[in-house]
Amino acid sequence: MERLQKIIAMSGYTSRRKAEELISLGKVKVDGVIIRELGTKVSIDSKIEIDGKILNIEKKEYYLINKPREYICSLSDEKNRKIITDLISTTARIFPVGRLDYDTTGLIILTNDGELANILMHPSSDVEKTYLAKIEGNLSSEDIIKLKKGIVIDNVKCKPKRVKVRKRDKVKQSDLVEIVITEGRNHIVKRLFESINHSVEKLTRIKYGFLELDNLKSGEYRILTNSEIRKLYSYKKAKKKSTYQ
Ligand code: URA
Repeated sequence: MERLQKIIAMSGYTSRRKAEELISLGKVKVDGVIIRELGTKVSIDSKIEIDGKILNIEKKEYYLINKPREYICSLSDEKNRKIITDLISTTARIFPVGRLDYDTTGLIILTNDGELANILMHPSSDVEKTYLAKIEGNLSSEDIIKLKKGIVIDNVKCKPKRVKVRKRDKVKQSDLVEIVITEGRNHIVKRLFESINHSVEKLTRIKYGFLELDNLKSGEYRILTNSEIRKLYSYKKAKKKSTYQ
């Protein structure tokens, strides 16, 4: 048995707050009966209908994968490129939490838990994402200052939490830079470096919040533990604590 609004949110249909609104408005039926009382516990095997449509409820699955290059983080691709979910053997309808570019490698979470995905992708969750970027040219101290002060991209400032040159190759004129950001706009790391005239040759995400790649090889994945899932839920910036059990 689980609270109705939680089941709706976990299905990915909408947020828990919106689910509560739908329930209060009398739009949710459980086994044919309209439920208006918030917090009503129902079996996850019940037939839940919202506005007459049956809600699809699957057991939740959570994976961490080391994404290889040349895989796309979406559910289909008109160019017929390989898709990240193809690497995971499951019949659940999982999807990636956020995106890594086609040519970016590294850590990404896949799940069918829409509620957790919404929490993690919400800007207020402030999940730190750590990348290693191999860039063209050597960063000057002015470049580093500019990055640390934050760079305006499409009228919104992106201020990395940390920037550190890990390796410098003066002969090949290339740096390996560790950069930590909390936002998730498309191509954001590449755009940050491009805005100070350094192109990114290789990009890999080595951490997502507290999660690390550890020794997962390219294309390998593992199932997240219950305690990791609980910790991910706690990124939600709210009065309410996680109810994931
Ligand atoms: N920033 C990028 O530029 N690309 C990614 O894949 C992720 C973050």
